[in-house]
Amino acid sequence: MGVSFDKVDGAAWLKFEVQPAAHPTSDKDRAARLVDPGFGRVFTDHMAVVRYNQAEGWHGALVESRANFPLDPALAVLHYAQEIFEGLKAYQRDDGGVNLFRPDANARRFRSSAERMAMAPVPEAVFIEAVEQLVRIDRAWIPGGEGSLYLRPFMIASEVFLGVKPSAEYIFAVIASPVGSYFKGGPAPVSIWVSENYTRAAIGGTGAVKCGGNYAASLRAQAEAIDHGCDQVVFLDAVERRYIEELGGMNIFFVFDDGSLSTPPLGTILPGITRDSIIALAKDAGTHVREEAYTIEQWRADAASGRLKEAFACGTAAVISPIGKVCSASGDFLISGGAAGPVAMGTRKKLVDIQYGRAADPHNWIRKVV
Ligand SMILES: Cc1ncc(COP(=O)(O)O)c(C=O)c1O
Repeated sequence: MGVSFDKVDGAAWLKFEVQPAAHPTSDKDRAARLVDPGFGRVFTDHMAVVRYNQAEGWHGALVESRANFPLDPALAVLHYAQEIFEGLKAYQRDDGGVNLFRPDANARRFRSSAERMAMAPVPEAVFIEAVEQLVRIDRAWIPGGEGSLYLRPFMIASEVFLGVKPSAEYIFAVIASPVGSYFKGGPAPVSIWVSENYTRAAIGGTGAVKCGGNYAASLRAQAEAIDHGCDQVVFLDAVERRYIEELGGMNIFFVFDDGSLSTPPLGTILPGITRDSIIALAKDAGTHVREEAYTIEQWRADAASGRLKEAFACGTAAVISPIGKVCSASGDFLISGGAAGPVAMGTRKKLVDIQYGRAADPHNWIRKVV
């Protein structure tokens, strides 16, 4: 069966109707919830929702009170996991305004995730409008300081049908969750476990897109990392089981003694927006950046010889996490003596300063919502 969806592009003009919550959280309760929100447990008052069916295309764009979806037990997503999502943040500037960081890049990646998962693509303008509308109505939920409002756009297959085929109906929604600084007291180096029993992605698979199934499949490997006293898991390629790919939810960079950076090439990994931004900032600074395959054996050897100076993981949630220790069934090794290195920390500051509007934005990454 071919995959084609009607009336997806004509939806760029879609107008959102805004129905503010009848009983929003009081100022006092909101302030209490913002004291120490952690990650992904506190939610704002509203959500944005748009629906797709073949007769109407994308329709019914609404910003409304955050509420449950009615779930028919035969809903397609519950059986065949046609689901994709994104993650981006809104940051409060010192002048009280609000910045989004590269939402157009999330919109493009969401579209390529939809295409890979045979789902109706959301027009990029609709994706961005949904995010902006939600940020505007819930802006009081953006924590000050180093906190931010994490935005979670997602789409589920909502046809009530048990056949294995692309769903004919979809729900696209955006919810928002205030988050504190990922690291209290500055980024502490993380330890990572090299997964030798499980892989994350194969050529032709779904590793390069953000579908929920990728994360379900990574949980066992992450649990193995925790069992071995590590914070995160790093996956190797599925063919030779030697090349470093990425962590469960972050990309990875290596820093060498000649000042150069390297990161695994795109293909089976998620094309991280933080990864892309770090490459751009490094090139701006005249740093040589290679997107090349790098093996676990070479990593171990370079850490021992001192050729490797630092390694760090990167992604929207934590921005940059220095990697202090690598553990595997064949032994552990330290990186930069287990401490956070200057390249990781300097790059992190550069990126965070752009996100909060404290530094110039030479690549036009910031979209001011307010
Ligand atoms: C598997 C995986 N790799 C990398 C990333 C980093 O991507 P980004 O920088 O766009 O947040 C994420 C987080 O979204 C992820 O889930």
